[in-house]
Amino acid sequence: MAVTTAQIYGWLERYAGIVAEQKKYLTGLDAAIGDGDHGINMDRGFQTVLVKLAPVRDKDAGTLLKTTGMALVGSVGGAGGPLYGTFFLRAGAALDGKAEVSDKDLVGALEAGLKGVVERGKANRNDKTMVDALAPAIERARQYVDEGAPLEEALAAAADAAEEGMKATIPLKALKGRASYLGDRSIGHQDPGATSSYLMLRALSDSLASVPQQAKTATS
Ligand SMILES: Nc1ncnc2c1ncn2[C@@H]1O[C@H](COP(=O)(O)OP(=O)(O)OP(=O)(O)O)[C@@H](O)[C@H]1O
Ligand SMILES: [Mg+2]
Repeated sequence: MAVTTAQIYGWLERYAGIVAEQKKYLTGLDAAIGDGDHGINMDRGFQTVLVKLAPVRDKDAGTLLKTTGMALVGSVGGAGGPLYGTFFLRAGAALDGKAEVSDKDLVGALEAGLKGVVERGKANRNDKTMVDALAPAIERARQYVDEGAPLEEALAAAADAAEEGMKATIPLKALKGRASYLGDRSIGHQDPGATSSYLMLRALSDSLASVPQQAKTATS
């Protein structure tokens, strides 16, 4: 299945809506082990993303993702915004100039995004960060796509892996970011960045699943 620009735009728009809806929830998670701004940061960032995407929404996937990354870097301070910004900038660069995005291209772009996050934030798995949701999810997507599974299935499995990774942050002690200042007191709380990353991957899975389903209905 080739991924269309409209589907990529649909993902970003859907995620912006989810972040707006879950702003208080994300901020509440961050209030427990950080400074209580993660939902506010992400919502400010993704509202800017929507504004910046409007004039380029018909452009290629690389442009959409790079525009998203630049909007996040330009509008969100702290750790989370620049890390998400890096994710989208690198993912967009991986799709640069591609008129058609294949399943493997999309997974490659997610991998490039994750690589950027790790290079920038230096988090290892189990440090209780967004990497704990992103890494197992993207790894699972790669495994499914390499085995020839349809992209929809690969992304649904990836979202499930992200959800598991997000929940698995609860018993961990934070070793990166502001939450690490709490030491053992960070144990027992779900990481906000892992939660927003899970929501991002679930939104991706849902937005890529919804278009073919509509198409099926239209032709049946
Ligand atoms: N070095 C890092 N690598 C990967 N993710 C990180 C790192 N530091 C923080 N994070 C993620 O960022 C989230 C916090 O994002 P938020 O938008 O609240 O930024 P912040 O308040 O500036 O962050 P910080 O907690 O680092 O001060 C954390 O829950 C964690 O998932
Ligand atoms: Mg914070």
